[in-house]
Amino acid sequence: MMHVFAFVNQKGGCGKTTTAVNLAGALAARGSRVLLVDLDPQAHATMALGHAVLDEITVREVLERGAPLESGIVEAEGGVALLPADARLVEFEETSARALHPESKLALALQGCTRPFDVVVLDCPPRTEGVLAANALRAADTAVLVVEAGAFALQGALKARALLEEKALLRAEPFSLRAVGTLFDRRSRIARDLLIGIHARFGEILFDTVIHSSAKLREAAAVGRPIHALDPRSSAALDFQALADEIELHAQERRAATEAALQET
Ligand SMILES: Nc1ncnc2c1ncn2[C@@H]1O[C@H](COP(=O)(O)OP(=O)(O)O)[C@@H](O)[C@H]1O
Ligand SMILES: [Mg+2]
Repeated sequence: MMHVFAFVNQKGGCGKTTTAVNLAGALAARGSRVLLVDLDPQAHATMALGHAVLDEITVREVLERGAPLESGIVEAEGGVALLPADARLVEFEETSARALHPESKLALALQGCTRPFDVVVLDCPPRTEGVLAANALRAADTAVLVVEAGAFALQGALKARALLEEKALLRAEPFSLRAVGTLFDRRSRIARDLLIGIHARFGEILFDTVIHSSAKLREAAAVGRPIHALDPRSSAALDFQALADEIELHAQERRAATEAALQET
């Protein structure tokens, strides 16, 4: 059974794409069948996985024309299957105004996918009010709020959490909500205090793993490979290995809960 994780936060630059791409790489490195769907017209995840869109089917055609998901999937760096995006994805925001239930397109495409995946990772755009984010939250089993351990980030993250909790309740089967701290600088006193603040406010939904700030992660994105394909022994790769452990455990627990609920009915 596949589990869909959406990485979200309305703030740009807080590490959503970096977390999504390198988590996907860490899961793939251990043999998990991983699909990353790039839902951002900026296409940073597509680039970070070493792919350049030419004239092929992308996530836009899947959402807009109902092209089969499989027809757009490319085999990207690090063993990650990728449904890529490019700048033309913004046009879906416009055409979707005329479509029926445009926010359900991704969920439908994933349901119709005949290729088996264990984990699907959705990289979301910074806009949380648009139709792309709505597609992500409709398709997600779990939304993961990406919380940057930086000054001024906490208030925004708390607002995002409240918003996500509201959105979860709009669904017949609410997605579960987790959070992950990132861009943590262990040498900085302020960052350590911020992390304590994040723990205090997100404690029960926060993954134990914290992603540290690492120049290696920027380098990996620049050369278009997940950290596991570039330097699997780096401390950044170890961070993502630890996060991958927690993500797999979470997916297992949710699966067990769903099966238990099904048996009762
Ligand atoms: N853990 C990290 N260590 C170092 N740089 C990071 C880390 N996470 C993100 N970055 C850098 O910060 C910038 C924004 O990150 P990104 O993942 O693109 O954020 P978002 O997708 O939320 O806009 C990028 O230049 C990225 O390389
Ligand atoms: Mg991004």
